[in-house]
Amino acid sequence: MAIFLDTGKLEDIKKFHELGVIRGVTTNPTILLKDGVRGGIAAVEKVAVQIAELIHPYPLSIEVTTNDRKEMIAQGKYFASLAENINVKITVHGPNGELDNLAVVHELETMHNVRVNVTAMMSAQQCFVAAMAGATYVSLFGGRVNNMGYSSIEEIKKLRKLLDDFQLKAKIIIGSTREVLNIIEWLHAGAHIVTALPKLVEGMIVHPYTKETVQMFLNDAAKSEVNNDQKIKSEEIRA
Ligand code: E4P
Repeated sequence: MAIFLDTGKLEDIKKFHELGVIRGVTTNPTILLKDGVRGGIAAVEKVAVQIAELIHPYPLSIEVTTNDRKEMIAQGKYFASLAENINVKITVHGPNGELDNLAVVHELETMHNVRVNVTAMMSAQQCFVAAMAGATYVSLFGGRVNNMGYSSIEEIKKLRKLLDDFQLKAKIIIGSTREVLNIIEWLHAGAHIVTALPKLVEGMIVHPYTKETVQMFLNDAAKSEVNNDQKIKSEEIRA
């Protein structure tokens, strides 16, 4: 079980990687745009190489920027060639339900030795089919599942059982994380990995009552130092 960081911000990745609490990074074109990555494929390539180097040997997911079958294959092979820990995100189907995407997943995995993270999935059945096509990771968007009135936890339980029963290699990544609570709940439900925004991972660590308690320790430690100083001084005077 692991936590990945869902971001393209190098400083955040560096911060949480140094803490030793993350085991990978995921991105998508929307995240990269939000995080200020502009300049097409060249800009994606640059940030991908930087992140991959920073977190090596942990994996980084980079998503293709096209839904054309040939271009997805070419981009997938290219991204994967940039670093050995880069895997390639392909959406489970195209914007109009095009089925080519799974053929791309199958080809990249079986013919080109590219590890694929099949993404933008909203149900256990989509993830199961993607796993059958050979995906290394299957990304279920838990927050979006919940937003549509379905239970992300039930989808995760069903999916984990299917992957285990069929002995499929795919690891479940749950993304679209909305609350700190999601992270532990989804891991507990059977997700291998939850990918979350830096602020949510920070929310797992920082607690207001812990802040208050630590401040109390520091205040009392400072008071005790004052007392010791005074004691030493009065002993010196007596002598
Ligand atoms: C996961 O891999 C995705 O990058 C991400 O979590 C999508 O989340 P969203 O629903 O916030 O767009």
